[in-house]
Amino acid sequence: MEKFVINGGRKLSGEVNISGAKNSAVAIIPATILVDGVCTIENVPNIKDVRLLNDILIKLGIKIDYDEVSDIIVVDSEKINSYIVPYDLVKCMRASYYLLGALLGRFKKAEVSFPGGCDFGYRPIDQHIKGFEALGAKVEIDQGMIKMYAERLIGCQIYLDVVSVGATINLMLAAVKAEGTTILENAAKEPHVVDVANFLNAMGANIKGAGTDIIKIKGVESLKGGVTHSIIPDQIEVGTYMIAAAVTKSDITIKNVIPKHMESLIAKLIEMNVKVIEGEDTIRIIGNDELTNVNIKTLPYPGFPTDLHPQASVLLCLANGISIITEGVWDSRFQYVDELKRMGANIKVEGRVSIIEGKNKFSGAPVKATDLRAGAALVIAGLVAEGTTEIYNINFIDRGYENFQSKLRSLGADIVRVPE
Ligand code: EPZ
Repeated sequence: MEKFVINGGRKLSGEVNISGAKNSAVAIIPATILVDGVCTIENVPNIKDVRLLNDILIKLGIKIDYDEVSDIIVVDSEKINSYIVPYDLVKCMRASYYLLGALLGRFKKAEVSFPGGCDFGYRPIDQHIKGFEALGAKVEIDQGMIKMYAERLIGCQIYLDVVSVGATINLMLAAVKAEGTTILENAAKEPHVVDVANFLNAMGANIKGAGTDIIKIKGVESLKGGVTHSIIPDQIEVGTYMIAAAVTKSDITIKNVIPKHMESLIAKLIEMNVKVIEGEDTIRIIGNDELTNVNIKTLPYPGFPTDLHPQASVLLCLANGISIITEGVWDSRFQYVDELKRMGANIKVEGRVSIIEGKNKFSGAPVKATDLRAGAALVIAGLVAEGTTEIYNINFIDRGYENFQSKLRSLGADIVRVPE
Protein backbone atom coordinates (compact mmCIF):
# COMPACT_ATOMS: atom_id res chain seq x y z
CA MET A 1 0.00 0.00 0.00
CA GLU A 2 1.21 3.50 -0.77
CA LYS A 3 0.29 7.01 0.30
CA PHE A 4 0.76 10.53 -1.06
CA VAL A 5 2.77 13.03 1.00
CA ILE A 6 2.16 16.65 0.02
CA ASN A 7 3.85 19.80 1.30
CA GLY A 8 1.39 22.55 0.51
CA GLY A 9 1.61 26.23 -0.25
CA ARG A 10 3.31 26.16 -3.65
CA LYS A 11 1.79 27.79 -6.73
CA LEU A 12 1.52 25.64 -9.86
CA SER A 13 2.79 26.77 -13.25
CA GLY A 14 3.33 25.45 -16.76
CA GLU A 15 1.35 22.99 -18.87
CA VAL A 16 -0.30 19.62 -18.23
CA ASN A 17 -1.47 17.10 -20.82
CA ILE A 18 -4.80 15.33 -20.31
CA SER A 19 -5.20 11.57 -20.77
CA GLY A 20 -8.02 9.66 -22.43
CA ALA A 21 -11.39 9.53 -20.65
CA LYS A 22 -11.75 6.79 -17.99
CA ASN A 23 -15.53 6.56 -18.39
CA SER A 24 -15.16 6.17 -22.13
CA ALA A 25 -12.31 3.62 -22.01
CA VAL A 26 -14.09 1.38 -19.50
CA ALA A 27 -17.06 1.16 -21.89
CA ILE A 28 -15.16 0.88 -25.19
CA ILE A 29 -12.88 -1.96 -24.03
CA PRO A 30 -15.88 -4.28 -23.24
CA ALA A 31 -17.59 -3.08 -26.45
CA THR A 32 -14.79 -4.74 -28.46
CA ILE A 33 -16.44 -8.06 -27.54
CA LEU A 34 -19.14 -7.20 -30.11
CA VAL A 35 -16.66 -6.88 -32.98
CA ASP A 36 -15.68 -9.74 -35.29
CA GLY A 37 -12.03 -8.94 -35.77
CA VAL A 38 -9.31 -6.65 -34.49
CA CYS A 39 -9.87 -3.18 -32.95
CA THR A 40 -7.18 -0.61 -32.25
CA ILE A 41 -7.94 1.88 -29.49
CA GLU A 42 -5.68 4.89 -28.96
CA ASN A 43 -5.33 7.49 -26.16
CA VAL A 44 -6.20 4.81 -23.59
CA PRO A 45 -5.59 6.11 -20.03
CA ASN A 46 -3.07 3.95 -18.14
CA ILE A 47 -5.23 3.52 -15.05
CA LYS A 48 -6.15 0.62 -12.77
CA ASP A 49 -9.69 0.18 -14.16
CA VAL A 50 -8.32 -0.24 -17.69
CA ARG A 51 -5.75 -2.82 -16.59
CA LEU A 52 -8.46 -4.70 -14.66
CA LEU A 53 -10.76 -4.79 -17.70
CA ASN A 54 -7.91 -6.07 -19.87
CA ASP A 55 -7.35 -8.89 -17.37
CA ILE A 56 -11.05 -9.79 -17.47
CA LEU A 57 -11.16 -9.89 -21.29
CA ILE A 58 -8.00 -12.02 -21.40
CA LYS A 59 -9.70 -14.45 -18.97
CA LEU A 60 -12.58 -14.65 -21.48
CA GLY A 61 -10.12 -15.81 -24.15
CA ILE A 62 -9.62 -12.43 -25.89
CA LYS A 63 -6.21 -11.42 -27.23
CA ILE A 64 -5.05 -8.05 -25.93
CA ASP A 65 -1.84 -6.17 -26.77
CA TYR A 66 -1.54 -3.14 -24.49
CA ASP A 67 1.32 -0.75 -25.14
CA GLU A 68 1.25 1.38 -21.97
CA VAL A 69 3.86 3.80 -23.37
CA SER A 70 1.93 4.77 -26.51
CA ASP A 71 -1.46 4.29 -24.77
CA ILE A 72 -2.63 1.90 -27.50
CA ILE A 73 -4.63 -1.30 -27.06
CA VAL A 74 -5.10 -3.82 -29.88
CA VAL A 75 -7.97 -6.19 -29.14
CA ASP A 76 -8.80 -9.38 -31.04
CA SER A 77 -12.00 -10.94 -29.69
CA GLU A 78 -12.23 -13.68 -32.30
CA LYS A 79 -11.25 -16.43 -29.86
CA ILE A 80 -13.52 -15.37 -26.99
CA ASN A 81 -14.65 -18.60 -25.30
CA SER A 82 -16.76 -17.61 -22.31
CA TYR A 83 -19.68 -15.37 -21.29
CA ILE A 84 -19.25 -15.93 -17.56
CA VAL A 85 -17.51 -13.28 -15.42
CA PRO A 86 -17.20 -14.19 -11.73
CA TYR A 87 -17.26 -11.87 -8.67
CA ASP A 88 -13.54 -11.84 -7.93
CA LEU A 89 -12.90 -10.24 -11.31
CA VAL A 90 -15.53 -7.50 -11.09
CA LYS A 91 -15.82 -6.75 -7.39
CA CYS A 92 -13.69 -3.60 -7.43
CA MET A 93 -15.09 -1.78 -10.42
CA ARG A 94 -18.50 -0.46 -11.51
CA ALA A 95 -18.01 -0.50 -15.26
CA SER A 96 -17.86 -4.29 -15.28
CA TYR A 97 -21.61 -3.96 -15.81
CA TYR A 98 -20.80 -3.15 -19.48
CA LEU A 99 -19.84 -6.82 -19.91
CA LEU A 100 -23.57 -7.60 -19.53
CA GLY A 101 -24.59 -5.60 -22.61
CA ALA A 102 -21.57 -6.65 -24.67
CA LEU A 103 -21.81 -10.41 -23.94
CA LEU A 104 -25.60 -10.40 -24.40
CA GLY A 105 -25.12 -8.55 -27.72
CA ARG A 106 -22.55 -11.12 -28.88
CA PHE A 107 -23.82 -14.42 -27.44
CA LYS A 108 -27.43 -13.62 -26.50
CA LYS A 109 -26.34 -14.79 -23.05
CA ALA A 110 -24.24 -13.47 -20.23
CA GLU A 111 -23.49 -14.35 -16.62
CA VAL A 112 -21.81 -11.51 -14.78
CA SER A 113 -21.50 -10.81 -11.07
CA PHE A 114 -23.05 -7.66 -9.63
CA PRO A 115 -20.61 -4.77 -10.12
CA GLY A 116 -18.48 -3.13 -7.40
CA GLY A 117 -17.10 0.43 -7.55
CA CYS A 118 -17.30 3.65 -5.51
CA ASP A 119 -19.64 3.58 -2.48
CA PHE A 120 -22.29 6.28 -3.07
CA GLY A 121 -24.93 4.50 -1.11
CA TYR A 122 -27.68 2.89 -3.17
CA ARG A 123 -26.43 2.22 -6.78
CA PRO A 124 -29.15 0.12 -8.51
CA ILE A 125 -28.92 -1.25 -12.08
CA ASP A 126 -32.69 -1.77 -12.45
CA GLN A 127 -32.80 0.37 -15.61
CA HIS A 128 -30.12 -1.78 -17.24
CA ILE A 129 -32.08 -4.96 -16.45
CA LYS A 130 -35.42 -3.42 -17.47
CA GLY A 131 -33.90 -2.60 -20.85
CA PHE A 132 -32.33 -6.04 -21.36
CA GLU A 133 -35.72 -7.66 -20.58
CA ALA A 134 -37.48 -5.30 -23.01
CA LEU A 135 -35.05 -6.46 -25.73
CA GLY A 136 -36.08 -10.05 -25.03
CA ALA A 137 -33.62 -11.35 -22.45
CA LYS A 138 -34.73 -13.56 -19.56
CA VAL A 139 -32.88 -12.24 -16.50
CA GLU A 140 -32.38 -14.12 -13.24
CA ILE A 141 -30.30 -13.26 -10.21
CA ASP A 142 -28.59 -16.35 -8.83
CA GLN A 143 -25.84 -16.46 -6.17
CA GLY A 144 -24.83 -12.86 -6.82
CA MET A 145 -24.69 -13.44 -10.56
CA ILE A 146 -26.88 -11.70 -13.14
CA LYS A 147 -27.74 -14.48 -15.63
CA MET A 148 -29.31 -13.49 -18.96
CA TYR A 149 -30.44 -15.63 -21.90
CA ALA A 150 -32.30 -14.60 -25.05
CA GLU A 151 -33.60 -16.61 -27.98
CA ARG A 152 -33.61 -13.42 -30.02
CA LEU A 153 -32.91 -9.76 -29.23
CA ILE A 154 -35.59 -7.59 -30.83
CA GLY A 155 -35.39 -3.79 -31.05
CA CYS A 156 -38.02 -1.83 -29.07
CA GLN A 157 -38.80 1.47 -27.31
CA ILE A 158 -37.16 1.87 -23.90
CA TYR A 159 -37.87 4.86 -21.64
CA LEU A 160 -35.26 5.26 -18.91
CA ASP A 161 -36.90 6.32 -15.62
CA VAL A 162 -33.69 8.08 -14.60
CA VAL A 163 -30.94 9.62 -16.75
CA SER A 164 -28.32 6.89 -16.41
CA VAL A 165 -24.93 6.88 -18.16
CA GLY A 166 -24.43 3.19 -17.48
CA ALA A 167 -27.89 2.08 -18.63
CA THR A 168 -27.71 4.23 -21.80
CA ILE A 169 -24.37 2.75 -22.87
CA ASN A 170 -25.20 -0.83 -21.78
CA LEU A 171 -28.43 -0.88 -23.77
CA MET A 172 -26.63 0.56 -26.80
CA LEU A 173 -24.18 -2.38 -26.55
CA ALA A 174 -27.03 -4.92 -26.31
CA ALA A 175 -29.08 -3.34 -29.11
CA VAL A 176 -26.48 -2.74 -31.87
CA LYS A 177 -26.86 -6.28 -33.22
CA ALA A 178 -30.53 -6.78 -32.25
CA GLU A 179 -33.22 -7.31 -34.88
CA GLY A 180 -34.89 -4.04 -35.84
CA THR A 181 -34.66 -0.63 -34.22
CA THR A 182 -34.30 0.28 -30.54
CA ILE A 183 -35.24 3.77 -29.33
CA LEU A 184 -33.73 4.86 -26.02
CA GLU A 185 -35.63 7.77 -24.48
CA ASN A 186 -34.47 10.01 -21.61
CA ALA A 187 -30.96 8.85 -22.48
CA ALA A 188 -27.78 10.24 -20.88
CA LYS A 189 -25.92 12.83 -23.03
CA GLU A 190 -22.44 12.62 -21.48
CA PRO A 191 -19.44 13.00 -23.86
CA HIS A 192 -18.46 9.39 -23.21
CA VAL A 193 -21.89 8.19 -24.40
CA VAL A 194 -21.16 9.90 -27.73
CA ASP A 195 -17.61 8.50 -27.83
CA VAL A 196 -18.89 4.92 -27.41
CA ALA A 197 -21.51 5.47 -30.13
CA ASN A 198 -18.83 6.87 -32.46
CA PHE A 199 -16.64 3.83 -31.78
CA LEU A 200 -19.50 1.41 -32.57
CA ASN A 201 -20.54 3.36 -35.68
CA ALA A 202 -16.96 3.23 -36.93
CA MET A 203 -17.30 -0.58 -36.70
CA GLY A 204 -20.45 -0.52 -38.81
CA ALA A 205 -23.19 0.06 -36.21
CA ASN A 206 -26.14 2.33 -37.01
CA ILE A 207 -26.62 4.62 -34.01
CA LYS A 208 -28.21 8.07 -34.34
CA GLY A 209 -28.86 10.75 -31.75
CA ALA A 210 -26.08 10.00 -29.23
CA GLY A 211 -25.58 13.20 -27.25
CA THR A 212 -29.31 13.89 -27.25
CA ASP A 213 -31.97 12.35 -24.98
CA ILE A 214 -33.32 10.14 -27.80
CA ILE A 215 -30.96 7.56 -29.29
CA LYS A 216 -32.03 5.37 -32.24
CA ILE A 217 -30.12 2.11 -32.73
CA LYS A 218 -30.87 0.19 -35.95
CA GLY A 219 -29.59 -3.35 -35.45
CA VAL A 220 -26.93 -4.65 -37.87
CA GLU A 221 -25.82 -8.21 -38.73
CA SER A 222 -22.24 -7.74 -37.58
CA LEU A 223 -19.58 -5.19 -36.57
CA LYS A 224 -16.39 -5.24 -38.63
CA GLY A 225 -12.96 -4.85 -37.07
CA GLY A 226 -9.89 -3.22 -38.61
CA VAL A 227 -10.74 0.28 -37.39
CA THR A 228 -8.74 2.60 -35.10
CA HIS A 229 -10.55 4.77 -32.54
CA SER A 230 -8.99 7.47 -30.38
CA ILE A 231 -10.63 8.02 -26.98
CA ILE A 232 -11.74 11.58 -26.10
CA PRO A 233 -9.91 13.59 -23.41
CA ASP A 234 -11.06 12.99 -19.83
CA GLN A 235 -13.54 15.74 -18.94
CA ILE A 236 -13.23 15.06 -15.20
CA GLU A 237 -9.42 15.04 -15.26
CA VAL A 238 -9.52 18.42 -17.05
CA GLY A 239 -11.90 19.77 -14.39
CA THR A 240 -9.70 18.45 -11.59
CA TYR A 241 -6.66 20.40 -12.89
CA MET A 242 -8.77 23.53 -13.55
CA ILE A 243 -9.93 23.48 -9.92
CA ALA A 244 -6.41 22.71 -8.62
CA ALA A 245 -5.16 25.83 -10.44
CA ALA A 246 -7.97 28.00 -9.03
CA VAL A 247 -7.44 26.66 -5.48
CA THR A 248 -3.68 27.34 -5.58
CA LYS A 249 -4.23 30.74 -7.28
CA SER A 250 -1.99 29.55 -10.11
CA ASP A 251 -1.61 30.17 -13.84
CA ILE A 252 -1.51 26.90 -15.78
CA THR A 253 -2.47 25.69 -19.27
CA ILE A 254 -4.30 22.39 -19.67
CA LYS A 255 -3.74 20.68 -23.02
CA ASN A 256 -5.63 18.03 -25.04
CA VAL A 257 -9.00 19.41 -23.92
CA ILE A 258 -12.43 19.74 -25.58
CA PRO A 259 -13.51 23.09 -24.04
CA LYS A 260 -17.19 22.49 -24.95
CA HIS A 261 -17.25 19.61 -22.45
CA MET A 262 -16.19 21.99 -19.66
CA GLU A 263 -18.85 24.70 -20.11
CA SER A 264 -20.60 24.18 -16.77
CA LEU A 265 -17.35 24.39 -14.78
CA ILE A 266 -16.01 27.31 -16.84
CA ALA A 267 -19.22 29.25 -16.09
CA LYS A 268 -18.87 28.60 -12.34
CA LEU A 269 -15.17 29.57 -12.25
CA ILE A 270 -15.87 32.84 -14.05
CA GLU A 271 -18.71 33.50 -11.58
CA MET A 272 -16.13 32.95 -8.83
CA ASN A 273 -13.83 35.57 -10.37
CA VAL A 274 -11.31 33.10 -11.83
CA LYS A 275 -9.88 33.93 -15.25
CA VAL A 276 -10.47 31.24 -17.90
CA ILE A 277 -8.96 31.45 -21.39
CA GLU A 278 -10.26 28.88 -23.88
CA GLY A 279 -8.09 27.76 -26.80
CA GLU A 280 -8.98 25.31 -29.54
CA ASP A 281 -7.87 22.31 -27.47
CA THR A 282 -6.51 24.05 -24.39
CA ILE A 283 -7.83 25.85 -21.33
CA ARG A 284 -5.70 28.34 -19.37
CA ILE A 285 -6.63 29.06 -15.77
CA ILE A 286 -5.37 32.19 -14.00
CA GLY A 287 -6.27 31.99 -10.32
CA ASN A 288 -7.37 34.96 -8.21
CA ASP A 289 -6.88 35.85 -4.52
CA GLU A 290 -10.48 37.00 -4.11
CA LEU A 291 -12.94 34.16 -4.85
CA THR A 292 -16.66 34.89 -4.94
CA ASN A 293 -18.95 32.35 -3.26
CA VAL A 294 -21.40 30.50 -5.56
CA ASN A 295 -23.99 27.71 -5.36
CA ILE A 296 -23.63 24.53 -7.39
CA LYS A 297 -26.16 21.80 -8.24
CA THR A 298 -24.75 18.66 -9.81
CA LEU A 299 -26.80 17.25 -12.71
CA PRO A 300 -26.45 14.92 -15.69
CA TYR A 301 -24.50 16.42 -18.63
CA PRO A 302 -24.53 19.23 -19.70
CA GLY A 303 -25.15 20.12 -16.04
CA PHE A 304 -22.33 20.44 -13.48
CA PRO A 305 -20.67 16.97 -13.25
CA THR A 306 -21.19 15.11 -9.98
CA ASP A 307 -17.63 13.75 -10.43
CA LEU A 308 -16.29 17.29 -9.84
CA HIS A 309 -18.41 17.84 -6.71
CA PRO A 310 -15.77 16.94 -4.06
CA GLN A 311 -13.05 18.92 -5.86
CA ALA A 312 -15.32 21.98 -6.20
CA SER A 313 -16.08 21.92 -2.48
CA VAL A 314 -12.38 22.52 -1.74
CA LEU A 315 -12.50 25.65 -3.91
CA LEU A 316 -15.68 26.88 -2.23
CA CYS A 317 -14.00 26.52 1.16
CA LEU A 318 -11.64 29.32 0.06
CA ALA A 319 -14.32 31.68 -1.30
CA ASN A 320 -15.77 34.70 0.50
CA GLY A 321 -19.02 33.85 2.30
CA ILE A 322 -21.36 30.86 2.27
CA SER A 323 -21.69 28.49 -0.70
CA ILE A 324 -24.11 25.59 -1.17
CA ILE A 325 -23.62 22.35 -3.12
CA THR A 326 -26.73 20.30 -3.97
CA GLU A 327 -25.97 16.75 -5.11
CA GLY A 328 -28.48 16.07 -7.90
CA VAL A 329 -27.23 12.65 -9.04
CA TRP A 330 -26.11 10.41 -6.15
CA ASP A 331 -27.94 9.68 -2.89
CA SER A 332 -24.88 10.11 -0.75
CA ARG A 333 -21.71 11.62 -2.10
CA PHE A 334 -20.47 13.47 0.99
CA GLN A 335 -18.07 10.87 2.42
CA TYR A 336 -15.17 13.27 1.63
CA VAL A 337 -16.49 15.94 4.05
CA ASP A 338 -15.22 14.38 7.30
CA GLU A 339 -11.75 14.06 5.80
CA LEU A 340 -11.75 17.71 4.66
CA LYS A 341 -12.88 18.71 8.14
CA ARG A 342 -9.68 17.11 9.51
CA MET A 343 -7.87 19.69 7.37
CA GLY A 344 -9.94 22.55 8.80
CA ALA A 345 -12.91 22.78 6.41
CA ASN A 346 -16.19 24.18 7.76
CA ILE A 347 -18.90 22.19 5.97
CA LYS A 348 -22.35 21.13 7.20
CA VAL A 349 -24.24 18.38 5.36
CA GLU A 350 -28.04 18.06 5.38
CA GLY A 351 -29.36 15.30 3.18
CA ARG A 352 -28.13 16.00 -0.36
CA VAL A 353 -26.99 19.54 0.46
CA SER A 354 -23.72 20.84 1.89
CA ILE A 355 -23.37 24.33 3.34
CA ILE A 356 -19.79 25.54 3.02
CA GLU A 357 -18.43 28.37 5.12
CA GLY A 358 -15.71 30.08 3.09
CA LYS A 359 -12.46 31.92 3.82
CA ASN A 360 -11.02 28.74 5.28
CA LYS A 361 -7.36 27.92 5.82
CA PHE A 362 -6.48 24.29 5.25
CA SER A 363 -3.82 22.71 7.46
CA GLY A 364 -1.97 19.50 6.56
CA ALA A 365 -3.23 16.28 8.22
CA PRO A 366 -3.33 12.49 7.71
CA VAL A 367 -6.51 11.78 5.71
CA LYS A 368 -7.91 8.90 3.64
CA ALA A 369 -9.53 8.74 0.23
CA THR A 370 -13.06 7.30 0.49
CA ASP A 371 -13.54 7.05 -3.30
CA LEU A 372 -11.87 8.17 -6.53
CA ARG A 373 -13.01 11.82 -6.72
CA ALA A 374 -12.90 12.29 -2.93
CA GLY A 375 -9.22 11.30 -3.20
CA ALA A 376 -8.63 13.93 -5.89
CA ALA A 377 -10.27 16.58 -3.66
CA LEU A 378 -7.94 15.71 -0.76
CA VAL A 379 -4.90 16.04 -3.05
CA ILE A 380 -6.10 19.51 -4.12
CA ALA A 381 -6.65 20.53 -0.46
CA GLY A 382 -3.15 19.23 0.36
CA LEU A 383 -1.65 21.46 -2.39
CA VAL A 384 -2.92 24.61 -0.63
CA ALA A 385 -2.73 23.43 3.01
CA GLU A 386 -0.19 24.75 5.48
CA GLY A 387 2.24 21.96 6.36
CA THR A 388 2.22 18.32 5.32
CA THR A 389 -0.76 16.22 4.23
CA GLU A 390 -0.62 12.42 4.07
CA ILE A 391 -3.29 10.75 1.93
CA TYR A 392 -4.07 7.05 2.44
CA ASN A 393 -6.14 4.65 0.27
CA ILE A 394 -4.65 6.18 -2.89
CA ASN A 395 -5.53 2.97 -4.74
CA PHE A 396 -8.89 4.71 -5.23
CA ILE A 397 -7.13 7.57 -7.04
CA ASP A 398 -5.09 5.16 -9.19
CA ARG A 399 -8.36 3.75 -10.50
CA GLY A 400 -9.07 6.93 -12.45
CA TYR A 401 -6.09 9.32 -12.70
CA GLU A 402 -3.08 8.54 -14.90
CA ASN A 403 0.27 9.61 -13.33
CA PHE A 404 -1.46 12.04 -10.97
CA GLN A 405 1.56 12.81 -8.81
CA SER A 406 4.06 13.12 -11.69
CA LYS A 407 1.76 15.43 -13.63
CA LEU A 408 1.34 17.61 -10.51
CA ARG A 409 5.09 17.53 -9.87
CA SER A 410 5.66 18.73 -13.46
CA LEU A 411 3.48 21.72 -12.52
CA GLY A 412 5.70 22.40 -9.50
CA ALA A 413 3.72 20.69 -6.73
CA ASP A 414 5.60 19.07 -3.82
CA ILE A 415 3.93 15.65 -3.85
CA VAL A 416 5.51 12.20 -3.52
CA ARG A 417 4.20 8.64 -3.48
CA VAL A 418 5.72 6.57 -0.69
CA PRO A 419 5.06 3.17 0.88
CA GLU A 420 2.57 3.42 3.73
C1 EPZ B 1 -21.37 6.79 -14.27
O1 EPZ B 1 -21.82 5.92 -13.24
C2 EPZ B 1 -19.90 7.09 -13.95
N1 EPZ B 1 -19.17 5.85 -13.92
C3 EPZ B 1 -19.80 7.78 -12.58
O2 EPZ B 1 -18.44 8.21 -12.43
C4 EPZ B 1 -20.65 9.04 -12.57
O3 EPZ B 1 -20.69 9.55 -11.26
C5 EPZ B 1 -22.11 8.72 -13.01
O4 EPZ B 1 -22.12 8.03 -14.28
C6 EPZ B 1 -22.93 9.98 -13.18
O5 EPZ B 1 -22.35 10.84 -14.09
C7 EPZ B 1 -18.79 5.31 -15.10
O6 EPZ B 1 -19.04 5.83 -16.18
C8 EPZ B 1 -18.05 4.02 -15.02
P1 EPZ B 1 -25.69 6.46 -13.59
P2 EPZ B 1 -23.18 5.10 -13.40
O7 EPZ B 1 -26.25 5.18 -14.05
O8 EPZ B 1 -23.36 4.73 -14.82
C9 EPZ B 1 -29.53 6.05 -10.75
C10 EPZ B 1 -16.28 8.33 -11.50
O9 EPZ B 1 -15.85 8.89 -10.48
N2 EPZ B 1 -29.72 4.76 -11.44
O10 EPZ B 1 -25.62 7.59 -14.55
O11 EPZ B 1 -23.16 4.05 -12.39
C11 EPZ B 1 -28.27 6.04 -9.86
O12 EPZ B 1 -28.56 5.50 -8.60
C12 EPZ B 1 -17.63 7.59 -11.42
O13 EPZ B 1 -15.71 8.30 -12.59
C13 EPZ B 1 -30.83 4.02 -11.14
O14 EPZ B 1 -31.65 4.41 -10.31
O15 EPZ B 1 -24.23 6.24 -12.99
C14 EPZ B 1 -27.89 7.50 -9.83
O16 EPZ B 1 -28.63 8.16 -8.85
C15 EPZ B 1 -18.21 7.61 -10.06
N3 EPZ B 1 -31.01 2.85 -11.80
C16 EPZ B 1 -28.31 7.99 -11.22
O17 EPZ B 1 -29.24 7.04 -11.73
C17 EPZ B 1 -30.14 2.37 -12.74
O18 EPZ B 1 -30.33 1.29 -13.30
C18 EPZ B 1 -27.17 8.14 -12.21
O19 EPZ B 1 -26.48 6.91 -12.26
C19 EPZ B 1 -29.00 3.15 -13.02
C20 EPZ B 1 -28.81 4.35 -12.36
